[in-house]
Amino acid sequence: MPLLEQNGFLPNLDEIKKEDAEKASLMFLNYPNNPTGAVCDRNFLEEAVEFCREYDIILAYDNAYSEFTFGNYAAPSVLEVSDIKKDAVIEFHSLSKTFCMTGDRIGFAVGNADVIRGLGKAKENIDSGVPVYIQKTAVTALGAYRDAKKPKEVQAVVDEYEKRAETLVNELGKIGLKANKPKGTFYCWIGIKGTGQNSMDFVKKSIEQGVVITPGTAFGQYGEGYVRFALTQPSARIREAVERLGKIIG
Ligand SMILES: Cc1ncc(COP(=O)(O)O)c(C=O)c1O
Repeated sequence: MPLLEQNGFLPNLDEIKKEDAEKASLMFLNYPNNPTGAVCDRNFLEEAVEFCREYDIILAYDNAYSEFTFGNYAAPSVLEVSDIKKDAVIEFHSLSKTFCMTGDRIGFAVGNADVIRGLGKAKENIDSGVPVYIQKTAVTALGAYRDAKKPKEVQAVVDEYEKRAETLVNELGKIGLKANKPKGTFYCWIGIKGTGQNSMDFVKKSIEQGVVITPGTAFGQYGEGYVRFALTQPSARIREAVERLGKIIG
């Protein structure tokens, strides 16, 4: 499904052809979104659940960045707007982002029992379980949650990323690249059409300056004209990186 800027990087479900919907088995959605940083509201998720119900499609919702949200925005769960006894929904979460556990990788899925059973059947034939020390770490990490509020350890990480996003957006503005601060994730999806360069050329030139960013086209045809910045460096490095990028924009 094309994710276009004019539609807030949400798929337009009304534009999906009936014959395509009838052939589909699964719809995969991810908000807060990698790579665009876009977010959705409950209404959109309700529409998606309704659409999948109508066409008997499994709705797989990747909510890996549910905790990576800024300001007042809280990421909804597809489980808030569906009935897991009836709807074929499944939601994925990861501890990689929330608890900085990308190396000690673990996640979980919640949803409709039949869909979970199907996932279990596939998984047990693909891999063979997560090391026990990582499982124990995950139990401790998730135990930090007492209610819907983010625990202070998680909030501190999210606050740091929000500061980095502000730094990146402000610095890019100074070199003439207009950007909006994302409401979630640790990515900034920046339009570079105004520079007269395509995504890949822009990235090659930025690598020559020692700055590694991802061309939008790495995520598909609709990514042309964009590049993705990941906020995985401290603010001082982000400032330095943008200063170097200034040289390729002229
Ligand atoms: C949207 C999204 N889902 C899932 C993942 C991967 O999560 P994990 O580290 O648990 O495999 C990523 C990682 O970049 C992601 O951006």
